Amino acid sequence: MNVIIVGAQWGDEGKGKVVDLFSSKAEYIVRYQGGNNAGHTIVVNGKKTVLHLIPSGVLHPGKVCLIANGVVFDPAVFFEELDSLIASGVLSASTAHEAIRVSERAHIIMPYHRLLDKLREEHATKTKDNIGTTVRGIGPAYEDKVARRGIQVVDLLRPELLKNKLRRAIEEKDILLKYHFGAREIDFDSLYKESLKLGQRLKPYIGDVRGVLQEALKYNRSILFEGAQGTLLDVDHGTYPFVTSSSTVAGGALTGSGLGLKAASEVIGITKAYTTRVGTGPFPTEIEKTERETAEKIRSLGAEFGATTGRPRRVGWLDLVALKYAVEVNGITGLALMKADVLQDFDCVKVCTSYRLNGTTVYDLPSCIEDIEKVEPAYEVLPGWSKYDTSVVKVKEDLPRELRNYVKLIEEFLKVPVILISTGPGREETLTFKSV
Ligand code: IMP
Repeated sequence: MNVIIVGAQWGDEGKGKVVDLFSSKAEYIVRYQGGNNAGHTIVVNGKKTVLHLIPSGVLHPGKVCLIANGVVFDPAVFFEELDSLIASGVLSASTAHEAIRVSERAHIIMPYHRLLDKLREEHATKTKDNIGTTVRGIGPAYEDKVARRGIQVVDLLRPELLKNKLRRAIEEKDILLKYHFGAREIDFDSLYKESLKLGQRLKPYIGDVRGVLQEALKYNRSILFEGAQGTLLDVDHGTYPFVTSSSTVAGGALTGSGLGLKAASEVIGITKAYTTRVGTGPFPTEIEKTERETAEKIRSLGAEFGATTGRPRRVGWLDLVALKYAVEVNGITGLALMKADVLQDFDCVKVCTSYRLNGTTVYDLPSCIEDIEKVEPAYEVLPGWSKYDTSVVKVKEDLPRELRNYVKLIEEFLKVPVILISTGPGREETLTFKSV
């Protein structure tokens, strides 16, 4: 069975852990969008690994990890991650190229993309208009892709083509850098030489990822699609413009890897038992101002600091209105409820089931950013649950009554089953109610 894993909120839901769990059964694990703005944290036997670009399935031996066409690819970050996986014994230097394949069609994040991301964020901060990006060059790299002046992985192996494409790509940027930002122009010669060098090192890893996946489908091999970021950060369906620049929803798994509609049969949405967001933009159930102590408590118990940037995450209660939207946009067939342990020992927990907007009750996420900023959440308040022995829980009926009721409310509201509850970062701290 082929499964797509998507973030159902604003990212950081715990996708890395779920991908790691499901990877034991999959043969191919595919990153299909985003880049090293992701930070997937996996804990195995108490050892923490944070992966930004290489699929989380790499921690299981014998898997094929694919970086597909929809990803924006920073070669320097790739080699940093690869070297550290080799140093820690996860991969062997002589066979790593058999475990990882990078699509010829993926677009390269160039140093000028990172620079532009940083300069734009700094510039926009002055007028408080910044997105709060991860400053990894993601947005500018996707801009170039859509503007048809991007550099693809395969270009790094073709010196003449690369020279021409690179010249075209930096022409306008030099003007922007010099006259708009007062920065230095791009040093073409050194960038060109460095790109060719990276291409040569990357050569053993480059391949036709779409073709590999087609073969996998033909022979009924199991594929796991590893989403990054979350539904509400999707460039089409998120809280635009406070979004990332890729298609983070389930549809992105297909376009981002070159497969047809029937390539996957399950879409697992990952959500925390509460909500977080990093970066700027609207967040209806945020409690930073209204329930400051509770927000601090959740942030500290849940270690809510970005895996990529270390920024403190904004914290709020679970938002079922936004989750219902995520269920619809992705066609989610099952939910994984992460960090349920963080809300343990709270007297009460809140769940948003509708919004008030301009004096009326609404049950859908508004389309316009101004309205999302204005909505006031209406909550159901439920009693919190106390600590329980997770080892005795085999079915949902074994959960403490309060947590069972919490899960029931989610399932009835969304009409989707919770198939997994995570009660800690480790692989073993997981209750699974349905295997996929
Ligand atoms: P970018 O993807 O770096 O361009 O950032 C755009 C927005 O997406 C910012 O609000 C980031 O904080 C957010 N973002 C990007 N990647 C992640 C992630 O992996 N988790 C959570 N938020 C993210």
